[in-house]
Amino acid sequence: MTRTVIVLAAGEGKRMKSDLPKMLHPLLGRSLVGHVLTAAAPLGAQRTLAVVGNRADQVTAHLSEIAPDVSTALQAQQNGTGHAVRIAIEALGELDGTVVVLNGDVPLLRAQTLQDLVEAHESAGAAATVLGASVPDPTGLGRLVRDADGGLSRIVEERDATPEQRAIREINAGIYAFDAAALRTALAKLTTDNDQGEEYLTDVFELFVTQGSPVRVHLAGDAAETLGCNDRAELASLRALLRDRINLDLMRSGVTIVDPATTWVDATVTVERDALLEPNVQLRGATSVATGAVIGPDVTLIDTVVGEQAQVVRAHAVQAEIGPNVSVGPYAYLRPGARIGRKGKVGTFVEIKNASLGEGTKVPHLTYVGDATIGEQTNIGAGNLFANYSGSTKSHTVIGSHVKTSCDTTFVAPVRIGDGAYTAAGSVIDKDVPAGALAVARAHQRNIEGWVRRSRPGSAAAEAAERAEQATSEEG
Ligand code: UD1
Ligand code: CA
Repeated sequence: MTRTVIVLAAGEGKRMKSDLPKMLHPLLGRSLVGHVLTAAAPLGAQRTLAVVGNRADQVTAHLSEIAPDVSTALQAQQNGTGHAVRIAIEALGELDGTVVVLNGDVPLLRAQTLQDLVEAHESAGAAATVLGASVPDPTGLGRLVRDADGGLSRIVEERDATPEQRAIREINAGIYAFDAAALRTALAKLTTDNDQGEEYLTDVFELFVTQGSPVRVHLAGDAAETLGCNDRAELASLRALLRDRINLDLMRSGVTIVDPATTWVDATVTVERDALLEPNVQLRGATSVATGAVIGPDVTLIDTVVGEQAQVVRAHAVQAEIGPNVSVGPYAYLRPGARIGRKGKVGTFVEIKNASLGEGTKVPHLTYVGDATIGEQTNIGAGNLFANYSGSTKSHTVIGSHVKTSCDTTFVAPVRIGDGAYTAAGSVIDKDVPAGALAVARAHQRNIEGWVRRSRPGSAAAEAAERAEQATSEEG
């Protein structure tokens, strides 16, 4: 059966009080509309069209980024959901089979629920099927009005409802399947005879019932799936619900999550079994965590790949690659292009940017590595700095394998250090170091004897020095 998906995304989302269109607000890795499109993807629709209106340019640009196959139709004035679908149908032209209509702001909808709804609709040969849910608080939503036999007789908006209808707890989720031909005919008959003076998509159900065409209700097992998002408070509730769902799925697939309430994993992230997530962990975007890795506490990973058995503690990483058995943190910052080879170490107060570290290479303490290639089994001493930026250009540092750089070495790029070389503490290295050499690049130490006694007479330091001198002469 031919399937077409229409996503309604023209509304204003006034209560979000935002410069960003409501549909574009992020929720654990995808925009609201991105979640809806993801849920619809397994339907295998031949065509997907989004109706845009408010801030259409922004919404269209976003859609072309996340779903280039989705076309758009412009609803210049938001005259209601029925009007929006009519515009979509006109833009789509020739149409048969099933038309699935989705509100753009129901991000918790599961692909399986939508699939079940569409299959039930198609196998029953219904004219229209609506996703319904029983909710404790139906305020603001359309109610499903049933006839004496339990069949759907109409959908009524709260503002148009009688007090008895308002008491109904079965609501319209704003997710539907229609027979294309029946929908086209019914949309032509919609009026604006309601409290908002809008064309209501929901009115087609009553039209179908009146003409004797079969309509159905498909109930969502989990009412949370049908929750819409109207303001930031609802956005936060949806986020918490989605967090719980993602965490539950992960735990069921063999991931240990110590504190699910403080573990925020985007829908786009993969975590393999036997990974362990400690409290206060955020995994975002295209992040993946391999088996046996231990992440946290207090870690944020964005678009970062973590290898097997790696350990990451109190760290922030963006577009980084953390190899297998690597140890990161506590207190490390990996920036884009940081690539840490197998069994490497990035320790405390270390920042790494656009640099690859070979297998077993360690950067344990207080160091900035920027724009560098470092070989295998090299040890970068405490407090090293890679001076990669001249103020106008960035240059690269290349350090070989089995190199040992001593504390407080500064590399002034571009510079190359050969395999097995050493540097002396406090060296500023601005010339290449051949393999196996010790580079010493610091001023020689000179002690000016008696300086404190002469220049700071009577000070505590001078007195301490005098006592020490006396003790030495008495010993001698
Ligand atoms: C609609 C349903 C209501 C249901 C609720 C579920 C109608 C008349 N009512 O309510 O029964 O319980 O959804 O959330 O359909 N939109 C457009 N163009 C418009 C109007 C809306 O594209 O002219 C889009 C919005 O961007 C949104 C969706 O349609 O994605 C629903 O609009 P919204 O105003 O949130 O829903 P209601 O009309 O209040
Ligand atoms: Ca409305």
